[in-house]
Amino acid sequence: MGRFSIPIMGFMLLCCLAALTEAKYLKYKDPKQPLGARIKDLMNKMTLAEKIGQMVQIERSVATPDVMKTYFIGSVLSGGGSVPAPKASAEAWVNMVNELQKGSLSTRLGIPMIYGIDAVHGHNNVYNATIFPHNVGLGVTRDPQLIKRIGDATALEVRATGIPYVFAPCIAVCRDPRWGRCYESYSEDPKIVQQMTEIIPGLQGEIPVKSRKGVPFVAGKQKVAACAKHFVGDGGTTKGIDENNTVIGLNGLLSIHMPAYYNSISMGVATVMISYSSWNGKRMHENRDLVTDFLKNKLKFKGFVISDWQGIDRITSPPHANYSYSVEAGVGAGIDMIMVPYNFTEFIDDLTDQVKRKIIPMSRIDDAVKRILRVKFVMGLFENPVADFSLVNQLGSKEHRELAREAVRKTLVLLKNGKSAYKPLLPLPKKTAKILVAGSHADNLGHQCGGWTITWQGLGGNDLTTGTTILNAVKNTVDPSTQVVYSENPDAEFVKSNKFSFAIVVVGEPSYAEMFGDSNNLTIPEPGPSTISNVCGAVQCVVVVISGRPVIIQPYLAKIDALVAAWLPGTEGQGIADLLFGDYGFTGKLARTWLKTVDQLPMNVGDPHYDPLFPFGFGLTTKSTKN
Ligand SMILES: *[C@@H]1O[C@H](CO)[C@@H](O)[C@H](O)[C@H]1NC(C)=O
Ligand SMILES: *[C@@H]1O[C@H](CO)[C@@H](O)[C@H](O)[C@H]1NC(C)=O
Ligand SMILES: *[C@@H]1O[C@H](CO)[C@@H](O)[C@H](O)[C@H]1NC(C)=O
Ligand SMILES: *[C@@H]1O[C@H](CO)[C@@H](O)[C@H](O)[C@H]1NC(C)=O
Ligand SMILES: *[C@@H]1O[C@H](CO)[C@@H](O)[C@H](O)[C@H]1NC(C)=O
Repeated sequence: MGRFSIPIMGFMLLCCLAALTEAKYLKYKDPKQPLGARIKDLMNKMTLAEKIGQMVQIERSVATPDVMKTYFIGSVLSGGGSVPAPKASAEAWVNMVNELQKGSLSTRLGIPMIYGIDAVHGHNNVYNATIFPHNVGLGVTRDPQLIKRIGDATALEVRATGIPYVFAPCIAVCRDPRWGRCYESYSEDPKIVQQMTEIIPGLQGEIPVKSRKGVPFVAGKQKVAACAKHFVGDGGTTKGIDENNTVIGLNGLLSIHMPAYYNSISMGVATVMISYSSWNGKRMHENRDLVTDFLKNKLKFKGFVISDWQGIDRITSPPHANYSYSVEAGVGAGIDMIMVPYNFTEFIDDLTDQVKRKIIPMSRIDDAVKRILRVKFVMGLFENPVADFSLVNQLGSKEHRELAREAVRKTLVLLKNGKSAYKPLLPLPKKTAKILVAGSHADNLGHQCGGWTITWQGLGGNDLTTGTTILNAVKNTVDPSTQVVYSENPDAEFVKSNKFSFAIVVVGEPSYAEMFGDSNNLTIPEPGPSTISNVCGAVQCVVVVISGRPVIIQPYLAKIDALVAAWLPGTEGQGIADLLFGDYGFTGKLARTWLKTVDQLPMNVGDPHYDPLFPFGFGLTTKSTKN
């Protein structure tokens, strides 16, 4: 080999690579090209099948690399609890997502798919993720910067598993706590819900120019595309019946349920999900006036609109009774991506047929695809379609758990403190002889996290994921000399015969999600009320209520010495002990009206004849005893 051979080979390699690159130059793959030019170039190259594929979102259980490739599928989701394996590691998630992505990248045009998941209080489907308090608690904090930091942390945990898209935040304004999704709502007050949209710049990154109104914005590999949901009026249904009818005039809709969408759009929210509910009798999934004319044309939202799970099927009653009608009405209304989620060939065949027969105009398909591609380009998905393991240590990190613990402290509301104002019970002393911890929710991580945790409906028990129960938090906090006795549901005799200094009773609602949480009585199920009676009748007690909404507490209030609403705090139960024992003071103020009886409902702040047990904005304070 001559002495010049290496540089010459190097030169030849360079020149050939350049030639090769030039031959293969694709404008849409060039990040230096303007967004509009990339979209246009790619759209010009796409067939109808490739376009329709972009509009389809399928569930991971029916997705394979081959399906992704054959049908040009634009998106995959994990439904609630749909995981690669029970207790799967972050690496296993990354591998699963990448495997499907490789199928998409192997298509003629190599358009990456976008993987989405419900990360509604942290990355809640994933084992070992930090579970933050549900929104009903976060509204209490009145602290948008805290909510933004939760968005930052959630984005990192989601990216740790190779996922770039979350179906959050829920910006519902729950106007009736009988609704099974009330805990997904920050408040009954639209102004608080507007403030809490600050989670969007946390998830997506801060939009540099707010005047680029309506253009989606996602700041690269450590951020995720967000989804404001459920458009619109989801929290206003009659008697809080899930997916039901929101009966309200246009002014009411615009002043109560719409405002948080204005904030979300100005922050560059990438996507909006349509509500299952109806507005004055018309299903939102077929409401062209609100989806196309209002959201897209008037508000100038430029991201994509996604259906809810089988949302177009549910346009008809019973669902899927006339699928062609559902496809025509849903796509016609302006929905761009359809969460199918299983029978994608049925959807693709139907939509293709309707386009060929000109029932659905090609311009509607082009609008949908343009929006989907816009989000994918803006977030850098074409440049970074495949995840690596560089963020896996973010999942459930110590830093995020500390943030969740801080959030728990700010979400608690102290509703009563002592039978007389002169003798407050809280903060409790750490050093005393013997204390009782009781109640169905004292040692139950699953109930503490609520629905949308590991599974759709949530799970009871302590095995679901890693976290600190309230019992363990109490044990971690008291002086080593203090004896902590735990009894889930003690009888009064037991409580009397032991000389407890005081008792902590933790009761509430079991986990639930969506319509399974609808309730027309809002009672704490047994044995919760018996535990309150047995314990509080015999010893000084603080009752901590774990619930997704205000529940009926008035009948027991006189027996209770101190009462704390803890909502659904998530995995970091230590935040509760931080307040009970005075390391920090209570600051939370109700972001919901606390009812006396269900026949008062609906009852919201500002209503005439407002007669709550505890009004909106109520919350006692304590001071930290730490020096
Ligand atoms: C979950 O976290 C615990 C420590 O908190 C660790 O020991 C375990 O390996 C983690 N499991 C997975 C699947 O990542
Ligand atoms: C609302 O709920 C009622 C009672 O279950 C039901 O009959 C009605 O069809 C529902 N309406 C809508 C729009 O879902
Ligand atoms: C289904 O909807 C289509 C389109 O609106 C309509 O023409 C057809 O009659 C409907 N079929 C049934 C069985 O209702
Ligand atoms: C999908 O839909 C088609 C058309 O309605 C039907 O024939 C087929 O059985 C469905 N497949 C599944 C798996 O449900
Ligand atoms: C309250 O409603 C729930 C669910 O709707 C039901 O299971 C329960 O039995 C009811 N409780 C009472 C006391 O009526």
